[in-house]
Amino acid sequence: MKTTQRRRGARRWLLGLMVAALAALVWGAAGAQTLDELRAAVAERPNDAEAWTDLGNLLLAADDLEGAKEAYLEAIAIDYLIGDAHYGLGLAEFGRGDYAAALFAFNEVARLYPERFDGHFNRAVTLARLRRPAEAAGAFERALEEAAPEADGADRLAAWTGLGGQRVLAGDPNTDAATLLLDLEWRLPPGYAPSDLVDVAAAGFAAGLLVRGPVVEDLRALRTAAEAEGVRLAIQSAYRSEAYQAQVHEGWRAALGPERAAEVSARPGHSEHQLGTAVDLRSADGPPAWDLDDWATTAEGAWVAAHAERLGFVVAYPRGAKSLACYDYEPWHLRWVGRDVAAAFGAARTAWLAAGLAEAVPFRAWLHLQHPPTDRNAP
Ligand code: DAL
Ligand code: ZN
Repeated sequence: MKTTQRRRGARRWLLGLMVAALAALVWGAAGAQTLDELRAAVAERPNDAEAWTDLGNLLLAADDLEGAKEAYLEAIAIDYLIGDAHYGLGLAEFGRGDYAAALFAFNEVARLYPERFDGHFNRAVTLARLRRPAEAAGAFERALEEAAPEADGADRLAAWTGLGGQRVLAGDPNTDAATLLLDLEWRLPPGYAPSDLVDVAAAGFAAGLLVRGPVVEDLRALRTAAEAEGVRLAIQSAYRSEAYQAQVHEGWRAALGPERAAEVSARPGHSEHQLGTAVDLRSADGPPAWDLDDWATTAEGAWVAAHAERLGFVVAYPRGAKSLACYDYEPWHLRWVGRDVAAAFGAARTAWLAAGLAEAVPFRAWLHLQHPPTDRNAP
């Protein structure tokens, strides 16, 4: 069977929000080759299905959906078992709005690559678009099975989220802070501390807490935009060193026991607070937000829920998303990711919700798909 299962590392945004939101991996995007080179390749080797697939991938990445479709169809005509071409064809058809054709293609992907998460996942998305929710749910479940085959039933979701471990991220926390996935499993390099911490007074908040320099401008904008509407915010907690996070976590363990503590507090090394880009907000005149039943029902919390994202902050642990977010609902915990990333995530979440695949989509799930973590210690 002539298939190109290798991934050449290129993950691309494409076809607008929907497909981008939903793990549209362009398999085998054609390295550094140009369109002209790929056109020359298929002219020289018109019976080479992989060459046609490479051409399709590049056209797809360039948003030439019709061209991509034609190239993939050539590939499939030469070698029906070339799964990458079916996958690309599915994305192209999805982008063209022909969901029936996309489903046919993703069905073939699921058949040819039954062990691949993203084939089933895109099949699920397409079924949801076709308003076949029961089948979509089944395909989504199957995607999760492939993501965590060793787990059982509801545990599969938890397994996909990472059950707890100590995998050290290969990404650079200094330059990639917006897109590093921290969770129960993935952690920062031991002892990591940012070098560009500044007092939140730089953003006009009460002095004494720290955030990374790049956060300040949006943090100030958040405060002033809220104040312009009579909403007064304060910061309860911001940067926490690994040692301090250890103390915080121990405090929760003592109060709640280890299992419950793990649901509300990150272990040292795993917290977005250690990254220096997270803040826990509260109402300026109120108690710590976690002392309330639901801070999002206060004027301040509601304002943050409605406006933080456009100012570059995501609510990392939304309501109803614990299985994917890893932690309990925390309406007060904002992670700064910058306005572009926040907008991309927001658009993706909207599309995902519209597809009926989840009731709540945490930032973590989007990161998992768009910026998957890599292991510093992998061979
Ligand atoms: N409360 C969040 C999960 C933290 O400890 O970072
Ligand atoms: Zn927090």
